[in-house]
Order: sequence, then structure tokens, then C-alpha cells
Amino acid sequence: MNLVVNTMRVYAHELEVKMKVAYADPPYIGQANKYPEKQEVDHVELIAKLEAFDGWALSASSPSIYDIVPMFLARGIKPRIGAWVKRYCVFKPNNNPAYAWEPIFFKPARDGSRKKNTVRDWVSANITIRKGLVGAKPPEFCGWLFDLLGMETEDEFYDLFLGTGIVTSSWEIWRNNRRKFE
Ligand SMILES: C[S@@+](CC[C@H](N)C(=O)[O-])C[C@H]1O[C@@H](n2cnc3c(N)ncnc32)[C@H](O)[C@@H]1O
Repeated sequence: MNLVVNTMRVYAHELEVKMKVAYADPPYIGQANKYPEKQEVDHVELIAKLEAFDGWALSASSPSIYDIVPMFLARGIKPRIGAWVKRYCVFKPNNNPAYAWEPIFFKPARDGSRKKNTVRDWVSANITIRKGLVGAKPPEFCGWLFDLLGMETEDEFYDLFLGTGIVTSSWEIWRNNRRKFE
């Protein structure tokens, strides 16, 4: 009985605590020329910045896994790795097999609870087109991201690379009307 009461207390406490959560969607390593800044983002610095948050996620390309994993390991971090699988994507003539998924390194803000629906560590969603920005994320990805990070509506969300702003605007929709994403 005590165990049940204590578990409920811990769960209630987790719900009440406001977490600071960051999402980093920088130009992927080696792809800075696709953006006006034309400057590679220092991923070592970025990872250090992410560590200051309660929960975080970092999007990347699959070839950059070999660069990024050693950066995490050097700081003693072994993050979870999820996947965005792209049902529809652009096939480029010289890329066969096509690059049709992206890794996302993440640390949830809260441990998963039995009271919540289990979240898969992957999402299948089409890429966005005609958004005017390479790498803009689709809304399904965004809803999945917030679940993946164990977010609650009272949390603070920091979108470190705004781009089109779709991730931030999806957060506002998600926190105000979570069911829309469920
Ligand atoms: C992958 S996009 C972000 C996409 C965004 N998550 C979305 O869904 O629309 C990366 C963004 O970072 C910006 N950026 C590029 N280099 C940067 C730098 N050195 N510092 C800050 N932002 C940069 C780009 O202009 C672009 O808007």
C-alpha cells in the first residue's frame, strides 16, 4: 500500500514540475551551405548547451552519426537515438540507396510512466515540401518529438534553430490541444 501511495506521489510530483526542454535542429554537419549563414555549427558547443536543459533532442543526418557519437561519448553521455523515417522523400540521382531516415539523439525530460501511452522511438512521416527551407520538420514529427521527450503542457520549450517556426508553433498547438496530436 505504501509503495502505491509513494509511486502516486512521485508521479504527481513529476507532473507538477516545470521542465526546460530544448530542441536543436541545426544545419546538419557538412550542409551549412544550404542556409544563408553558410557557417558550420560547432556541435561540441551545441551538445554542451543542450546538457543544461532537463530534456533535449538533437536532429542530425545519418552520415553524421560517426561524427556526433564520439562527441557525446567524450562528455560521458550515451543518449537514446530515435529515428524519423521518411515515407516520402526526394530521390537524388547519385544516392542509391536513398537517405530516407534521420537520427535524433535525445534525453527525455521525464522517465516514461506506466500511466502514459508508450511512445515509439521512431516516427514515420513525409518530408515537408515548398516550405522555403531545407530541413523544415513536418507537424507529425513535432507531435512525436514532444511525446518522445516526456513533455507536459506546463513545460518550457526552447527551439534553438527556429527555421520556419513550425516546431514552436506545433508546441503551442500541442500544449493547448494535445488531443489533436493523439
Ligand atoms: C534545419 S533548419 C531548422 C528547421 C526548423 N526546425 C524547421 O522545422 O523549420 C536550420 C536553421 O538554422 C539556421 N542556421 C544556420 N546556421 C546557423 C548558425 N550558425 N547559427 C544559428 N542558426 C543557424 C538556418 O538558417 C535554418 O533556419
